[in-house]
Amino acid sequence: MSSKRVLTGVTTTGTPHLGNYVGAIRPAIIASQNPENEAYLFLANYHGIIKCHDPEQIHQSTLAVAATWLACGLDYEKVTFYRQSDIPEILELNWILSCVCAKGLMNRAHAYKAAVQDNAERNEEDPDHGIEMGLYCYPILMSADILIFNADLVPVGRDQIQHLEMTRDIAQRFNHRFQKELFRLPSAVVSDDAVLLGLDGRKMSKSYGNTIPLFESEKKLQKSVNKIITNMKEPGEPKDTEDSTLFEIYKAFANPEEVATMAQAYKDGIAWGEAKKIVFAKINRELAEGREKFAELTAKPQQIEDILQAGAQKARKEAQERLQQIRDAVGIRPLR
Ligand code: ADP
Ligand code: TRP
Repeated sequence: MSSKRVLTGVTTTGTPHLGNYVGAIRPAIIASQNPENEAYLFLANYHGIIKCHDPEQIHQSTLAVAATWLACGLDYEKVTFYRQSDIPEILELNWILSCVCAKGLMNRAHAYKAAVQDNAERNEEDPDHGIEMGLYCYPILMSADILIFNADLVPVGRDQIQHLEMTRDIAQRFNHRFQKELFRLPSAVVSDDAVLLGLDGRKMSKSYGNTIPLFESEKKLQKSVNKIITNMKEPGEPKDTEDSTLFEIYKAFANPEEVATMAQAYKDGIAWGEAKKIVFAKINRELAEGREKFAELTAKPQQIEDILQAGAQKARKEAQERLQQIRDAVGIRPLR
């Protein structure tokens, strides 16, 4: 059985929340524990600076995201865990791929098109007003992240599927142009799990300010759970599980039996306050250990730095070898 390379990156903007945990962190850690997989997990800080222009936030978030992964059980000795900016070969490959990637492909990227659309809606004369090259070329950088390590599987959110299609396109074009099968064509892996909802019932997202931070204190977690939107139904009145954000969040943490018991409690008219206590206890049980580890880790940034440096050493050795082959393929080689 040949092992599969699983690779994913996390952009270092903001503090991870329950949605990131359920949708990305938890499944990636489970996948990395599968002995058939070789996992590459990295902090995408060069992606972070595309949208976030606050240096302190980028820096703090790098610490928070790294500590979150480690606190959630990432085994840095098994997984190759590194920070994008520690692997300069990625940026070199980014340029080489830029020379292969069709401009028209980038014109079709969702993030760029959304920015153009935004300008049109604001009646801006220049459709490219305020759009920077980082945003425009971001799918090429993502391709470089993936292709430098020849990943097979890339777990991502739905919004990233297009970037995987673009990566395949760029890889194919390179292989064809230089008549070498240098790049494997990676596939996106998208979790079937429902998107976790936030305090206001919309998708939980940093952009909506409706998140429950993953490792906030127990007290704050309780307060956040109490803020989850419900309806005006009184205790004793049967409640619907269908449109219940509270029920959806509970489902992401409870086992099927517990979910069935909660569904029955809804039918029997459980009071919202009571249901919230159960939901809080459930989430808190799963996160308590990680929260403690997170606090310990963030208090020792040097320890995280050392872990990332060790990861970078491992990753770089491989990236350098790959880049050598790629440079050679395009004719950048020593004179002899
Ligand atoms: P945000 O929307 O808060 O900015 P990101 O876009 O940084 O989150 O997402 C990082 C990862 O977490 C992605 O893999 C994304 O699919 C996942 N994710 C984000 N929000 C949710 C959610 N509400 N439910 C499930 N997964 C989520
Ligand atoms: N763009 C991804 C996101 O916003 C993060 C990311 C950067 C990534 N490089 C990657 C994901 C490479 C997978 C593979 O979620």
